[in-house]
Amino acid sequence: MSHSRPQKVLISAEEIQSRVQELATQIASDFTGAPAVVVGILNGAAPFMMDLLRLLPASVASTLVYDFVDATSYRGSESTGEVQLSHPLGVNIAEQEVLVVDGIVDTGATLQTVLAVLKVKRPTSIRTCVLLDKVSRRKFDVPVDYRGFEIEDLFVVGYGMDFDGQFRGLRHVAVHSLST
Ligand code: IMP
Ligand code: MG
Repeated sequence: MSHSRPQKVLISAEEIQSRVQELATQIASDFTGAPAVVVGILNGAAPFMMDLLRLLPASVASTLVYDFVDATSYRGSESTGEVQLSHPLGVNIAEQEVLVVDGIVDTGATLQTVLAVLKVKRPTSIRTCVLLDKVSRRKFDVPVDYRGFEIEDLFVVGYGMDFDGQFRGLRHVAVHSLST
């Protein structure tokens, strides 16, 4: 039986945490003080979004509402090109400032689909925040307002990112190799 293992550490846990702190500081300073909703894209966004919320100043964090939508587009390390959305949003975002959070943006299909669904609900604004951005892979022109790291076209795992459900619990981001 062949086990695939994550290989090289691409971004260490320490680098992630210090970048997430910078993003939290930037996001907090951009808030107008209006009611805000943070929407995470499951499953990949979960560790990043929780760390981000935890690192926001208490004054901002205490006024936020958060929820998740569920989007799936990958099978193994290949994008299927079709985004499946489930788990509808349970909170009202009309006339709210919305921040959409995901772990990684690749072709942009997922973010584009989620943004289209949320826009119909008439929020005041929608901004996006992703930890990892594979800029060279973009097919859909989606706005990324807050970006943790730009990465090359590599399949990565850890800190929420998975290969068929595995490795999400790593504290760091690793390049996934199928050959070991
Ligand atoms: P997109 O729809 O092509 O932008 O892909 C975004 C989604 O694909 C992310 O939310 C992840 O779930 C998944 N994804 C894209 N690249 C990777 C990767 O390198 N590792 C793990 N998941 C990935
Ligand atoms: Mg995802």
